[in-house]
Amino acid sequence: MGKRTTLENKFYDLFNEYFYNAEKHRRWNVYEDIPWDQASKTPDPEVATLVESFFAVELYLPDYVRHIMRMVRKSRGRAWFQANWGYEEAKHSMALEKWLLTSGARTDEQLQDWESQVLDEEWILHYGDEQLMSLCYTVLQEFATGLTYRRLNTFTKEKGISDPALAGALSLLHRDEIGHFNFFKKGLQMYMEVDRDRALEAMTGVLQSFHMPAAHIIPGWDARDKLIRDWDVMTDRIFLKDVVKPVMKNLGIDHQEMRAVRRRMKEQAEKDAPEVTEIIEAELSDDKYSQAA
Ligand SMILES: [Fe+2]
Ligand SMILES: [Fe+2]
Repeated sequence: MGKRTTLENKFYDLFNEYFYNAEKHRRWNVYEDIPWDQASKTPDPEVATLVESFFAVELYLPDYVRHIMRMVRKSRGRAWFQANWGYEEAKHSMALEKWLLTSGARTDEQLQDWESQVLDEEWILHYGDEQLMSLCYTVLQEFATGLTYRRLNTFTKEKGISDPALAGALSLLHRDEIGHFNFFKKGLQMYMEVDRDRALEAMTGVLQSFHMPAAHIIPGWDARDKLIRDWDVMTDRIFLKDVVKPVMKNLGIDHQEMRAVRRRMKEQAEKDAPEVTEIIEAELSDDKYSQAA
């Protein structure tokens, strides 16, 4: 087979590398690899609500897969990755659900009711068919989700809660999310090699509007979000300091370069439509990376 040279062919190589490593080092079994018999039988109610909230985010899997698969179906590397990604994400919701049940935090009936409430709403892709923005968003989101599971695991232990089942599940989920982050990060770096300016402009746009997936459609999200903040699992400050900064560093993008991109976008906007420049200026000053730097 000839050397794969186009961007999409490189994605297929990237998928192969990802899949090889996942098969070799990262596969786990939801029934056997988590010590379910060691789940706490007196679960902390706040931990239960946090787990139930993250379970809800993972429940939109059919929407995530459907929208993204439609967008990338002609890219074998990305489509095959998406199929594998769906399999891994399916286990995340299953593990969180199994903990809620095994610990007795929720009954089967309560969880079925919760699932039905959550799926009453449909998740829609933020950025329409803009693949590059979606990719930038996913790079940040996978890293942030991984960090969320790790922080919940750490804080649960720090509060003296001993639950090897929850700890085991959260560790496996964290490791998967970081695996996903690495795939998307390398994919974005491939775009950056082809057209760095366009990739950085897409990232600038995403940084201005980032929020966690599906948050706005999950029932009772405001109270759940408050609990996530109260526990310091994920806040705006953590997002800036412990997500945006390391992700940008990982991508090899520094603060000065992002500032130049913002300036260029502003000048272009002034040329294209002077009357909206003021609005864009206000949005750009809200850029999360400049606050993080
Ligand atoms: Fe996940
Ligand atoms: Fe993920």
